[in-house]
Amino acid sequence: MCGIVGYVGKNDAKPILLNGLKKLEYRGYDSAGIAIRNNLELPVIVKAEGKLVNLVEKTNKLNIFTTSGVGHSRWATHGKSNETNAHPHHSDDYNVIGVHNGIIENYQELKDKLTNKKYKFYSETDTEVMIKLIDYYYKKYKLGPIDAINKAIVRARGSYALALMFKDYPNQVWFAKNGSPLIVAKSDDSAYLASDVPAILNYTNKVYYVNDLECGVLEAGKVTFYDLNGDDITDKKELVTIDWKADSADLGGFEYYMDKEIAEQPEAIQNTINAYLTAENKLDFHSIGIKQEYLNDLDEIYIFACGSAYHAGIVAQHVIEDLAGVNVRVELASEFKYRNYKMNPKSLAIVISQSGETKDTYEAMLKAKANGIKTLAICNVKGSTITRDADFNAYTYAGPEIAVATTKAYSCQLVVLYLFALFLARTKYRINKENYYKLIDEVKQIPALVKETIDRKENVQRLSARFTEKTNVFFIGRGIDYAVCMEGALKLKEITYINSNAYAAGELKHGTISLIQKGVATIAIATQPTLIEKTVSNMVEVKSRDGSVVALTNDGNNVEQSSKYQLYIPKINPMFAASVAIIPLQQLSYYVCLNKGLNPDKPRNLAKSVTVE
Ligand code: AGP
Repeated sequence: MCGIVGYVGKNDAKPILLNGLKKLEYRGYDSAGIAIRNNLELPVIVKAEGKLVNLVEKTNKLNIFTTSGVGHSRWATHGKSNETNAHPHHSDDYNVIGVHNGIIENYQELKDKLTNKKYKFYSETDTEVMIKLIDYYYKKYKLGPIDAINKAIVRARGSYALALMFKDYPNQVWFAKNGSPLIVAKSDDSAYLASDVPAILNYTNKVYYVNDLECGVLEAGKVTFYDLNGDDITDKKELVTIDWKADSADLGGFEYYMDKEIAEQPEAIQNTINAYLTAENKLDFHSIGIKQEYLNDLDEIYIFACGSAYHAGIVAQHVIEDLAGVNVRVELASEFKYRNYKMNPKSLAIVISQSGETKDTYEAMLKAKANGIKTLAICNVKGSTITRDADFNAYTYAGPEIAVATTKAYSCQLVVLYLFALFLARTKYRINKENYYKLIDEVKQIPALVKETIDRKENVQRLSARFTEKTNVFFIGRGIDYAVCMEGALKLKEITYINSNAYAAGELKHGTISLIQKGVATIAIATQPTLIEKTVSNMVEVKSRDGSVVALTNDGNNVEQSSKYQLYIPKINPMFAASVAIIPLQQLSYYVCLNKGLNPDKPRNLAKSVTVE
């Protein structure tokens, strides 16, 4: 989605806005723009199509010092990607200037209303409509920005985060939010706003999360919040400390974030394990608020998530069912919210989300809550929308994840889910003490095994050359391996644009095998001892139809007769095999992407956090 930033203070706004946009580039990047202002002077708007560097070049030609401004990196929703549709947008007399992340669903109705009031429109965007609506109420009622913003937001349907400048209010940036993420922060002499934490991490790690239908204003060293009635609610706002290091969102010598984030996995997993282990080497999920009596009564778990987080949920389904003996339903959040499903009252809904902002996941969670079901969020971003409304939060400690294709956050989600499964199994006396401690020790070995797997990257790099020209790749596996296939196929397709699909190996004979022919590549994952013979039979079936098979399996397994190429991963308890099996698939996608001359961090049409339906 788009990214927005805002600044007011004693420093020059230009570099602060541009740096913020750089950190948010992963959210949307077909065009970008800023509006900057020096005290009483009228704002200057600079926009550029394409990469952020185009905007930086244009801005660098301006020899002015500016004390406030707003900025935007755009991922087109309404209207083509061009300079006219790029933000900031403005009312005809530049009375109101603003940037917007989200979608105004009833923009046509609002546009018609404004057209009747003689407003003219220069762009195809819903944002211009919103800016002009605010301008209309500002001029009609003459009660100032908060009144105008509030009147506009009760009429707009959809999701938005807005940052606005008013001609009559120099050195102030106004904001409002509904549905799209927005954080604000202040330091001694400045105030900031952004769609996401990395944009301001160089200045402060203490942030306020703006709630839906709240608005407010940034001034140098000050932030004020208002509710829909226009009452000052600043005292009620909580300052959240983000425990990410200032440089954790930098490239740190890597060429791409995806490579950096793959390499960071052992440390990220270790940090996540440490958060749930007590000094006595026990697991503690009671400290996040989950009571023993509640768990005793629990007889079903729902998991709601999207994309990779959903794939982590499918791995967890196997692990929780095997260890804790509790049935698990995993549902795509984007589908579940439309179902009339009767939820089991003795259940827990686990929602998994890196960003904590995915609208589909958030809405599935709200649906569970509306059914009276307790919700546990497994999330990477403290204070994000999902974590604020979940009953319990189990954080992943991956640090900021910037690359669109998730790697370290997915790996940390797996580990939290393993630990929760183990905790549940022990609290329900499904496993004895000895087995409990043994399994904890096996989870503790995951960071080292992941590191060992990452270090085997040469094999994957070599193999990647064989995939560069492919147009179709199949992934097959059974049980947990099938869940890894889904994630591997998503990784490959999202950054290399190769049509890659995951199939449960047992389903080949029910249709898919008709697609196998010479030149079609199949990656077969075989890490589950109880299923390996069956998967090997499927590999042979593919091979005998001239398909070329890459076997991904643990050291010591004999797959050389049944496959053309082999990728070996270290031995691990099969229940936790997804954690190592996914590594070569992340690397393969990354190298194929580079071989094709593409940018792995910014796949076309995709955005890191999906805050629209
Ligand atoms: C994975 O590489 C994708 N970027 C995507 O599928 C992602 O996992 C999904 O959009 C969910 O995002 P979330 O974890 O932030 O909710």
